Amino acid sequence: LITEVRLREILDSRGNPTVEAEVRTESGGFGRAAAPSGASTGEYEAVELPPEEAIANARERAVPRIEGQVYAGDQRTVDRTLHGADGTDDFSGIGANVAVAVSMAAAKAGADMLGAPLYQHLGGAFRGDGFPTPLGNVVGGGEHAADATDIQEFLAAPVGAPSVTDAVFANAAVHGAVADLLAERDIPAAKGDEGAWAPSVTDEEAFAIVSAAIESVEDEVGFEIRMGLDVAASELFDGEQYVYADTTRTPDEQIEYVAELASDYDLAYIEDPLDEDDYEGFAELTGRVSDETLVCGDDLFVTNTERLATGIETGAANSILIKPNQIGTLSDAFDAIELARENGYDAVVSHRSGETEDTTIAHLAVATDAPFIKTGAVGGERTAKLNELIRIEANA
Ligand code: PGA
Ligand code: ZN
Repeated sequence: LITEVRLREILDSRGNPTVEAEVRTESGGFGRAAAPSGASTGEYEAVELPPEEAIANARERAVPRIEGQVYAGDQRTVDRTLHGADGTDDFSGIGANVAVAVSMAAAKAGADMLGAPLYQHLGGAFRGDGFPTPLGNVVGGGEHAADATDIQEFLAAPVGAPSVTDAVFANAAVHGAVADLLAERDIPAAKGDEGAWAPSVTDEEAFAIVSAAIESVEDEVGFEIRMGLDVAASELFDGEQYVYADTTRTPDEQIEYVAELASDYDLAYIEDPLDEDDYEGFAELTGRVSDETLVCGDDLFVTNTERLATGIETGAANSILIKPNQIGTLSDAFDAIELARENGYDAVVSHRSGETEDTTIAHLAVATDAPFIKTGAVGGERTAKLNELIRIEANA
């Protein structure tokens, strides 16, 4: 039985306050978790409130319904109680940030009581034995860095890696190779919010640099590494056109452009190639790219089963990004993963641009046998998850 829920503000990786929750149980179980935070957030995400306000709301409305009443191991009841205390359909009552922190902390307390790792508690005895391939953000811009690329994320996708550990080190090597190529060309670069290099180059130059970096690391490691993108196209769309630094593209031209990129660069993964309201455009692009390319909805689906159902009906995308804080609880995230799986969509578990040392998403990806996880390539709040994957693999 949960005896205590403690809430506080802690720092996230951007230096902003975020919500941390601690859950304690009668039998001595303990769990601690923190909410991440997006910068290129989808319009349809659950609502993040200022942490101070979210904490006050939860203390008043949610905590009294949980303490002394709900079992930590009973995740569905924990999450239903959070919804009940909130009373809205987008967590605008208490705040999705406080909800997700409590939901994840309860799951960790549940695992602690069992003496099992979190992935085991969440995935159970019959989970698959696969490991997610990490997608590593190596160059980026958009809302995550000023004066850098228009496309938000250029990702390394080490699809041929024999293990998670090999994949994690390969992504870091690509990140390092990009630094060398930038230095050779005298292009200065700081890092964006997720640790990716954020040079002031055109998207075209970024494609050249990232492909060269991937090729050099492929030669070194001897397995296949492909390229992926998060276009985060909603941030480029002005309601009529996609606005790039040097040009604009109509929706049709955008589909054409991304389809060409997919074939020119053999893209393994394309996230949010079109605006978050454009199911039709997503469907058209999905039909045009090869079966070997994932078209993934982040802002399009926002981890929401209703929006995913619309995508399934219309043929929009063939994979879904899973960010627990977009929907507010682990149960909701599991439901989205389940619906995706039943319909042949791949689930890609993901971090946010604002992160903490919390490692829940690494366990969520392993628990649900997700084929991919997107959680950066370098930087402490990113390596927290990557190193956790290495540990899980080593101990599994
Ligand atoms: P965000 O970016 O966390 O700033 O939304 C990540 C993404 O768009 O995938
Ligand atoms: Zn995205």
